[in-house]
This record gives sequence, C-alpha cells and structure tokens, in this order.
Amino acid sequence: MKVLVATDKPFAPVAIEGIRREVEVAGFSLALLEKYSSKEQLLEAVADAEALIIRSDLIDAEVIAAAPKLKIVVRAGAGYDNVDLDAASKAGVCVMNTPGQNSNAVAELVFGLLVFAFRNFYNGSSGFELKGKRIGIHAYGNVGRNVARIAKGFGMEVAAYDAFCPAASIEADGVKALPSAEELYASCDVVSLHIPATEQTKKSIGKILLEKMPKGAVLVNTARKEVIDEEALLLFMKERPDFKYLTDILPANDAAMQEAGKGRYFSTPKKMGAQTAEANINAGIAAAQQIVDFLKNGNESFRVN
Ligand code: 3PG
Repeated sequence: MKVLVATDKPFAPVAIEGIRREVEVAGFSLALLEKYSSKEQLLEAVADAEALIIRSDLIDAEVIAAAPKLKIVVRAGAGYDNVDLDAASKAGVCVMNTPGQNSNAVAELVFGLLVFAFRNFYNGSSGFELKGKRIGIHAYGNVGRNVARIAKGFGMEVAAYDAFCPAASIEADGVKALPSAEELYASCDVVSLHIPATEQTKKSIGKILLEKMPKGAVLVNTARKEVIDEEALLLFMKERPDFKYLTDILPANDAAMQEAGKGRYFSTPKKMGAQTAEANINAGIAAAQQIVDFLKNGNESFRVN
C-alpha cells in the first residue's frame, strides 16, 4: 500500500521522519511529493496511491479521477475547503482532517502579527501595548480557544462570538460571549477571524461588519481569504485611515492593499500559521495514524464526507 505525502508547502523534516515511522511500522510504503511545481506532477504521483496526506493542496475531481486506487485523503490540518468532498464521496474516498493539531501554532501567529502591528511594524516610533485592549474572537473553535488563552496572558479583555458554540461553554473559559458578529465587531479593538470557508461564510466579512469597527481597530485574519469581501475591504482601507488589516493569507488584491494601506496593512507572503515543527509533527503524525487505523481497522473517526 502506498501512502503519498503531497504538500506544496513541505512539512519540517522531523515531521516527515515521524510520518515515515508510522507508515512503515504498519507495513505500508511512503512516497513524497513536496514543493511540486505543476498539477501534472500531482496527477502523476497519485496514480498508484491508496492514501494521501495533504495540507492546503487542491484535491479536485481531476485529482480524484487520476487516483483510481485511492481510499483515503487526510488533510493534515483543520480546514478542508481545498478538497472536493462530493467528488471524493462519489469515488468512495474517505476524507478526514486532524482538528486541533496545529491550532496553537496558528494562535501564536495571531499575536506575532498583532505585536508587530501595534509596534508600528518596528519602524522605530512609539506604538501601543496589547494589555487592556479588547480582542474579539470570531468563531470559538480550536484556534479561537488558544487565542483566548494567550490573549489573557497579554492582559487583554477577551470576547467571542460563535454561531454554533453555546455561550455557556465560551463563558466557562472566562471569555465574554457576545450574541452577534455585529456586536463583536462594534465592541472590540481587535477582531481575530477563525471562521471556516464555506458557502455560507464566503465574502461574509464586508462593509456591514467592517463599518461597525471602532476607531483604530485592527482585523487579523489567520483563517481564509475567501471569507473576506476583498473589494469591500479595499474600499474600507481607503475610507478609514485609522484601520489596520493583518493577514496570513495573501489577498488576491495584495498590490492595491499595499498601496491603500501603507503602514497599516501586512500579509505574510505564504501562509505561515501552521508552519512550525510542532504543528507539522502533530498534524502529520495524526494524519499517518488516522490512515493506518482506517486502512487496518476501518476507523472512520474524523471523517468529514
Ligand atoms: C489549517 O486549515 O489547518 C490551517 O489553515 C493550516 O493550513 P496549512 O497546512 O496549509 O498551513
């Protein structure tokens, strides 16, 4: 049985060692396709793979069709908007994610971005502290919970809104649960985005919510660019010279954002949230273990399709 790790953005070598151990101890073989430069390479590599470990790599109907032996795809990470679940289901392929395994890494990056921006991108001038500011966490999942924990360490006031998580479980963490996204955006100095990209959430962060944000507000996005209405954000950037946007997902209109938001806008060139050895080890090894358990014992925990 061939398990293929196909990652445009490679795991740390130490994570690959761990994945290899899990796969080979189970009697399977491991193949690697890292940092590939074309979809053709991916289509070729999946041709004889029974199992696939990916990150944000696009697994569409064409990739599924090119992999006739494929039984399982594990997205080593949280968001699986990059996988065509319908095509996988039709081909009888199980799709899983590894929730929670990289969430601390993403949450830590939120604060890396925030301190950087609050200190005026280290340009030598006097900036601000996070202590005493109010942070609003939009969606209280695995990353959101870690953001809350770290924010308390900074001495921030912490609030959250989640359409699905009960207010009582948010409040149990000492976090103020707000009843709507509108209230979150209106009452927080910083909003940290953690909603998944779904048909319902795509472009959901636009004019209505942005205009609610108070003077000097900061929006930090370590989730997905698809949830942002990028045209509305660009307009808002132009209209509100006090507003800052920090993101770990390069917007499609990055050049225009840089122009409009000089000194108030920053994007990592490539998504870095989950790019730590620890997150790679946790998510990569969990993915390998889930594959072994599925192929050997039929365990479908973490199935998303
Ligand atoms: C996730 O959904 O797990 C994060 O966005 C990390 O994505 P990555 O594995 O592509 O870095």
